Amino acid sequence: MLKQEAGDGQRSLADPEFRADVLTGLSASPRAIPARWFYDRRGSELFEDITGLPEYYPTRTEVALLKSACGEVGRIVGEGRAVIEFGSGSSMKTPVLLESVQPSGYVPIDISGEFLRMSAAQIAGRFPGIPVHPVEANFMKPVPLPKAVAEAPKLGFFPGSTIGNMTPAAATDLLRAMRQSLGQGAMLLIGIDRVKDEGVLVPAYDDAAGVTAAFNLNLLERINRELDGTIDVAGFRHVARWNDDASRIEMHLEAVRDQRFDVDGRPFSIAAGETIHTENSHKYGPRGARVLLRTGGWTPVAEWTDEREWFSLILAEAQPTPMAP
Ligand code: TRP
Repeated sequence: MLKQEAGDGQRSLADPEFRADVLTGLSASPRAIPARWFYDRRGSELFEDITGLPEYYPTRTEVALLKSACGEVGRIVGEGRAVIEFGSGSSMKTPVLLESVQPSGYVPIDISGEFLRMSAAQIAGRFPGIPVHPVEANFMKPVPLPKAVAEAPKLGFFPGSTIGNMTPAAATDLLRAMRQSLGQGAMLLIGIDRVKDEGVLVPAYDDAAGVTAAFNLNLLERINRELDGTIDVAGFRHVARWNDDASRIEMHLEAVRDQRFDVDGRPFSIAAGETIHTENSHKYGPRGARVLLRTGGWTPVAEWTDEREWFSLILAEAQPTPMAP
């Protein structure tokens, strides 16, 4: 269905999945909207800004780890694998890896098509010898890989602790799906954020400059723009809290007062203090991370962490399933 965009009068197709997720999520108890809808153009830009924030340690810690570990990664995985990156975004971390593993192909998978094509073109320009096959898809569902890499041994690349944005149950499903699509003998290089002091974790998701708040609140702007929403965005505030029981940071949009609004012609109301849950970021201890990988069918073969042990990079292998005692 064609929708009139509020701001600039542009016409765009409202994604029926977005509409369904928002209408269902706002009616649910507790309210929750899947985090993947953060990433419209503005959301993707704000996310890039988050990765450079002083409080947001994961990106710079992981990039430093990748740089120091990539030589060893290259020696372990060998040359000529096809690198499949899940949620490639701006492919900022990719060059370090591509240089050290001399891949036979690169398949970036991302849900944001515009971003994907831009960064795929950049990688192709920088590595003229490596065929790049971008795939625009939601990697939470099985993604058929391009024929060009079907026969090559694979190296999955899943940085950014994106695995932490899933519940352990969903993370396990995804790891198993990855094993299925990459095949036995494939390897996976994955970044997983560690459990650490709450005083470090919370500010990483609630920065002083308010960029993460803007990122979270942008979801409401997007609802207003794409789904005929009448939400007063100023009536909500960004909240980041540590849920120790579930070992995760949660992001919520909290109503600062009672309010009513419409989305897609349907009325909703929310009381002051109630929230819309928009993101989880699970944190794992060293054993927890390894058990998670094994549960998903991946055997850890090497691991790197920084001096403060804030972030870990794990290389795992899809080994044949051994007999269990
Ligand atoms: N996976 C990263 C993390 O949990 C990046 C990320 C995903 C993120 N969604 C986010 C960071 C929302 C800040 C806010 O840290």
